[in-house]
Amino acid sequence: MAFSSSLLFFNLRLFITIFLSVSGTDSLSGDYTSIFSFGDSHTDTGNFLYIFNSSNVGNFPYGETYFHHPTGRCSDGRVVVDFIAQAFGLPLLPPYLACSEGKDLRQGTNFAVAGATAIDAAFFEERKIRGVIANISLGDQLLWFKGLLPSLCHSPTGCHKFLRGSLFLVGQIGMNDYFYLFNNGSSLEVIRTYVPQVVSTIGSAVHTLIEHGAMTLVVPGGPPMGCFALTLTIGASLNKDDYDKETGCLKRWNELVQYHNDRLQIELDRMRDLYPHAAIIYADYYNAAFRAFCSPLQFGFSKGALSACCGAGGPYNYNSSFGCGTHEARVCKDPSLYFNWDGGHPTEAGHRLMADAVISGPYDLLVHACH
Ligand SMILES: *[C@@H]1O[C@H](CO)[C@@H](O)[C@H](O)[C@H]1NC(C)=O
Ligand SMILES: *[C@@H]1O[C@H](CO)[C@@H](O)[C@H](O)[C@H]1NC(C)=O
Ligand SMILES: *[C@@H]1O[C@H](CO)[C@@H](O)[C@H](O)[C@H]1NC(C)=O
Ligand SMILES: *[C@@H]1O[C@H](CO)[C@@H](O)[C@H](O)[C@H]1NC(C)=O
Repeated sequence: MAFSSSLLFFNLRLFITIFLSVSGTDSLSGDYTSIFSFGDSHTDTGNFLYIFNSSNVGNFPYGETYFHHPTGRCSDGRVVVDFIAQAFGLPLLPPYLACSEGKDLRQGTNFAVAGATAIDAAFFEERKIRGVIANISLGDQLLWFKGLLPSLCHSPTGCHKFLRGSLFLVGQIGMNDYFYLFNNGSSLEVIRTYVPQVVSTIGSAVHTLIEHGAMTLVVPGGPPMGCFALTLTIGASLNKDDYDKETGCLKRWNELVQYHNDRLQIELDRMRDLYPHAAIIYADYYNAAFRAFCSPLQFGFSKGALSACCGAGGPYNYNSSFGCGTHEARVCKDPSLYFNWDGGHPTEAGHRLMADAVISGPYDLLVHACH
C-alpha cells in the first residue's frame, strides 16, 4: 500500500507549481477558467434532486450549513468540489441536469449524480441487482459532457484550446458499484473481483477526457467507507476482530477501498505514461479523511468521527429506514463537530478536510494506520 508513490508526489507538486507560477500569490484563484466534475453523491450539487425531486435530500436539514436551504448536496453544506471551485475563484458548479438550455456553462458544470456507478447501468440490470437508485453511470455523465461540448467550443482544435484551461474532477466514483453488490447479497470477497473493472472504467473516462483536450485531471480515490456510519450499520459484525481497534472502523471494508485505491493509482500511472503532457493528480481522500478517524479531536470532531450527525438512532445514529431528511430523523446541534453527516456522507467539515488535502496539502499523506 504505497499511498504516496514518487510519481504521485511529483504530479501534486507539478500541479501546485503550475498553479503558483501562474497566480504568483498564495491565493488560489485565476488559474483555471472552468471546472467539470463527474461522480456520485460525494460530488453531486443537485442533479439527483433534479431527477428525483421528492428525495429526502431535498428536505431540511440538508443544506442547513452555508446555503441555509437544501440544494441537493448530500451534506449539511458544501462538498469537496465547492471548496475547489471557491479556491480557484470560480462559481459553485451548477448541476448539469438542472441547467436550462442556453445557460452559459463556460465556467463549468457538474455531471455527478448521487447513486451513480462507475460501471454502466446495463451491468447491474443484466445481473438482476436490485436497489440501484440512480441508474446513471460515469459513461452517461461522459455522454452529457460530449453533448455539451458544441455549446462550449467549435472545432476539435478550439475544444482542445478551451479544455486546456479547465480542471476536471473525475470522482470519486465506484463506491456505489460495491454497495449495490453488497446490498444484493455479494460477499466482500466477491465484490473485490469487480474492482479491476470499476478501476478500468475510471481509467477509460480519464482517457476519453484527455482525448477531448483535458490537461489537468484530479482523480480521487475512495474514502475509508469502513468508517462511515452507513457501512458500520449494514456491515455490523459480532466479531470484535472485524473492527480496527484504534478507530472502530470495519477493517475489511477499508481494505476493499484501499485495494480500489491501489489499483486506481496503478491505472493512473499507466495513463501518465500514455499522456505525459497531461497532469493527472490522484487525490488521496482516503488518508485525508482517515486522519479524522485516528484523531477526531485534533481535527475538531469532538462528537467523534463515526456517528452521524443526522439520523434516527442506532449505534451510529444511522437507520436505513429513517434517513436524514425524514420526519423520524433528528439533527445534531453543530454538524461541524461531526465527520459524518447522514451515515453515507461527510459533513461540510468532513468535506473540507478532504478538499484541503487536494487544494493545499499535505500531499504526502501516509496514514492508513493510526500510528
Ligand atoms: C416534482 O416533479 C413533478 C413532476 O414534474 C411535479 O409535478 C412536482 O411539483 C415536483 N415537486 C416539487 C417538490 O418540486
Ligand atoms: C441479485 O439478487 C437477485 C435476487 O435475489 C438475484 O437473482 C441475483 O442473482 C443477484 N445478483 C448477483 C450478482 O448476486
Ligand atoms: C436504466 O438505464 C438503461 C440504459 O439507459 C435503460 O435501458 C433502463 O430502462 C433503465 N432502467 C430503469 C429502471 O430506469
Ligand atoms: C431502525 O428502526 C427500526 C424501527 O424502529 C428498528 O426496528 C431497527 O432495529 C432500527 N435499526 C437500527 C440499525 O437501529
